[in-house]
Order: sequence, then C-alpha cells, then structure tokens
Amino acid sequence: MKNLAVFASGSGTNFEALAQACADGRLDARIVLMVCDKPGAKVIERAERFGVESFVFSPKSYPSKADFEGEIVQMLRDRQVDLVCLAGYMRIVGSTLLSAFAGRIVNIHPSLLPSFKGAHAVEDAVAYGVKVYGITIHYVDETLDGGKIIAQRAFPYDGNDPDEVHRIGQKIEHELYVETVQKLLNN
Ligand code: GAR
Repeated sequence: MKNLAVFASGSGTNFEALAQACADGRLDARIVLMVCDKPGAKVIERAERFGVESFVFSPKSYPSKADFEGEIVQMLRDRQVDLVCLAGYMRIVGSTLLSAFAGRIVNIHPSLLPSFKGAHAVEDAVAYGVKVYGITIHYVDETLDGGKIIAQRAFPYDGNDPDEVHRIGQKIEHELYVETVQKLLNN
C-alpha cells in the first residue's frame, strides 16, 4: 500500500474525498500526514475525524521557506511518503521540497490550465464570460499553477454565479482527484 501526504490551507473537502476513498478501499493508499500552513483551518478537524496525523505550522514563525520545507521533507521521508497531493495548499512550493520529491508532487486547480491560474480562478473565469469550465490536475513545479498536466475534466456553464461554478467544480474535483491519484499509484 502506498503512502500519501495531503497539503491544504482551507476547508479540506478534497482532503476528505481522498481520505474517504482510502477508507472505502476505492484508493489503495493511506494518508500518513496532512500538512497545513493555516492554524485554525477546517481541514485540521477533518484530519482528526479520519485519524490522520497533522502537521500545522505558521510560515511566519520560520526564518525562510527553506526552513519549514526542510522540516516537512524530514517528516515526509520518516513516513515514507510516495506521493504528495496539494489540495488547496495556497502557497508556491519551494526548491527544498521540489528537489526532495521531484516528480512526486501533484496539485488540483479549479480551471482548465493554463487559463486562469491563481487563487481566484473561478471568479476570474466568470468575470471573463467563460462558457466551458474545468478542473486540472498537474505536476507541481516552481511556478504558480504550472507544471505538466496529468488530467482535466471540463463542464459547460452559461451563467454568472461563481458559487455555482465552485459547487459543480468541487464535485468533479473530488472524483477526478481520487481516480487520478489511483492511476498515478498504479504506474
Ligand atoms: C479547490 O477547489 C482547489 O482546486 C483550489 O482550492 C480549493 C480547495 O478546496 N486550489 C487552487 O485554487 C490552487 N491554485 P478544499 O479545501 O475544499 O479542498
């Protein structure tokens, strides 16, 4: 069985989708660590509920990104993590983590990349008048929402309510992340 780490900064619905799939046996893996850079984020409660160990930290309390990433790399190695899944981790991954886990860090993003990168992808797409939305899962590199695309799923939407796009998109995210992680673990 493969070991996953999930990184999140917010609500953690994607964390929960992955954790539930591990519990159900739809995903042949276990989450051995949840990493969160926002003390108080809802994802921390979700991790507790699933009995997943959390590492919660405040980036500001470290001298540099290399310092907190160095600590994280050590924890990932100690727990023999095979794949790191970013799930709403709103922070650019630095070279310390990238070089230690090269080709083994993936991210989910709520747009059809390379369109609409960043933290407000859905709001930006709605403002642009987009008619076909989507979700992307990609390898992580040192750029914001960059890196080679692994999977995408599109859906039509002809309205102007970002909340509705988020609702439709999140349902797709939860399915696509589980399917894609299982495929990556098979290879
Ligand atoms: C997800 O929609 C994910 O695609 C997005 O953050 C949300 C986290 O939701 N990620 C990005 O925008 C990355 N640039 P969750 O906390 O409920 O899983």
